[in-house]
Amino acid sequence: KSELRLGIAGLGTVGANVAQLIERKAELLAERVGRSIRITAISARDRSRSRGFDADGMAWFDDPVEMAETGEIDAFVELVGGSDGVARQAVEAALRRGIPVVTANKALLAHHGVALARLAAENGTEILFEAAVAGGIPVIKTMREALSANEVSRVYGILNGTCNYILTRMEKEGIGFDACLKDAQALGYAEADPTFDIGGFDAAHKLAILTSLAFGTEISLESIFIEGISKITIADIAAAAELGYRIKLLAVALRTDSGIEQRVHPAMIPARSSLAQVDGVTNAVAIDSDLLGSILLAGPGAGGAATASAVLSDIMDVAGGFVPPTLGLPPSRLQPYHRARM
Ligand code: HSE
Repeated sequence: KSELRLGIAGLGTVGANVAQLIERKAELLAERVGRSIRITAISARDRSRSRGFDADGMAWFDDPVEMAETGEIDAFVELVGGSDGVARQAVEAALRRGIPVVTANKALLAHHGVALARLAAENGTEILFEAAVAGGIPVIKTMREALSANEVSRVYGILNGTCNYILTRMEKEGIGFDACLKDAQALGYAEADPTFDIGGFDAAHKLAILTSLAFGTEISLESIFIEGISKITIADIAAAAELGYRIKLLAVALRTDSGIEQRVHPAMIPARSSLAQVDGVTNAVAIDSDLLGSILLAGPGAGGAATASAVLSDIMDVAGGFVPPTLGLPPSRLQPYHRARM
């Protein structure tokens, strides 16, 4: 197969990590998908900044929409963010050209996911979004593939790393809300506008996507009750702890007699439960379904490399033919355990 040519729009925390990893892991990725993956076009706001990868030979576009319309690319990776504006226009332009899109943009999907999925189908292509929910945790693929025979009754969890990081540090270190938020921004966890994090909107965007996959319904952001964490104080957290609870920003979707209920709000969770143990930037998603019962997926919910891991998995799906490594490895690469340790 010929190489897969990528256009990447948006070179912030996630975009720069994706580009660095495609450079660093070029050989491994090519071996696994059976063709090489090369970035042929990039677009970001600031052209002069150095971002830790070699951009020589990549076409630069000031406008991501122009890149989506005219770039010599086989797949479009949208890491610009924002529910409208250039991100939406560029994704629509790529899909109209029949080019598959990989995106981490939960706001875009929560607002326009249904229309974009239709546009993709009309043009014989697809939109992949593993990185849009819970960062690196493989929840979309789990939902779509591993649980495909199940009927889900409830999906809930901790979907915003920034909020969980803030609440954890307020509790464990007694540090005030604003200082914790500043650190979360410096670490690259927060949204460009952190109101989306602390107001509960980012968690709601992710919940809207999960609900749609879990229940086979159209995405409905409008029907989510949303309350963020900005009113939570250290005193609240201490009072909850005395009663044996921890405060978490919880996102919940469940099937009820009167329809699907969706909500995002701070909740007191029994301190001994698995969900209450989820600390820092870690996210966790619990899924209750008829055949499998309850599962809990937990892991890094934000940050460059973890989110890039999910983006890369989608890029590899687009490249096609990902072979599970242990089953596909030549025997010489399979070392007995004791030899591998020497
Ligand atoms: N700002 C988001 C968070 C990034 O803190 O969870 C990952 O979507």
